[in-house]
Amino acid sequence: FCHGPLHGKRVVITAGPTREAIDPVRYVSNHSSGKMGYALAVAARDAGATVELISGPVALPAPSGVKLTSVSSALDMLNAAEKATDQGCDIFIASAAVADYRPEAVPEQKIKKSQRKMVIELIKNPDIVASIAARPDKPFTVGFAAETQDVIAYAEGKLKNKKLDMIVANDVSDQRIGFNSEDNAVTVLWDGGSQSFSQQSKLILAGSIVELIVSNMQP
Ligand code: PMT
Repeated sequence: FCHGPLHGKRVVITAGPTREAIDPVRYVSNHSSGKMGYALAVAARDAGATVELISGPVALPAPSGVKLTSVSSALDMLNAAEKATDQGCDIFIASAAVADYRPEAVPEQKIKKSQRKMVIELIKNPDIVASIAARPDKPFTVGFAAETQDVIAYAEGKLKNKKLDMIVANDVSDQRIGFNSEDNAVTVLWDGGSQSFSQQSKLILAGSIVELIVSNMQP
């Protein structure tokens, strides 16, 4: 038998964007394609893990051998992440681009066009990865930081504030990497170390990130 390094481990991964309803026909979202998260799911599966992929709306096929849970809003994603973690979770990877805010009041009927200007009031969404990292049964928790400036400094802040074990700093100001591209280039940070990865396919990079997680986890 050939067992991968994550044999017997359960890995939960969030991927893709969330959609925050404005009314029954409109939403607020972002450009995440899910490619990074789906690549991580495949890499974790190939390392022998049991994988649950919690995905916002994307155009990608479900990776074989992975449990796919499809969600829409940040609140749905939080609920699915808590449920998946309740079932036991050794590693939680948050690659989803969760909307930080959602429209506060969502009318039941379509909003009609009237005045020249309109205001949509937004309210903060709960932080999914921080909620998982705050659990008493905290898994090894990996976040991403999508930034357009001061990438490393902001990523270090998120690593600390969200009590993560590792963070993948992603400069999303460059169109060739980050949102919706085939490639990515990142710096992975943890307490006491870092490793940079030059531009490469998200599939190959995902394998390296999973290897780095394996080597940083407590035995
Ligand atoms: O999907 P792709 O097109 O392949 O693009 C990949 C990616 C650019 C989306 C991905 O590599 C990435 O950077 N994902 C994180 C995007 C993001 O929302 O980053 P952030 O810096 O806003 O959030 C920091 C961390 O907190 C992330 O792990 C995020 O999943 C998590 N978060 C954020 C807000 C929230 N309410 N709940 C969360 O869990």
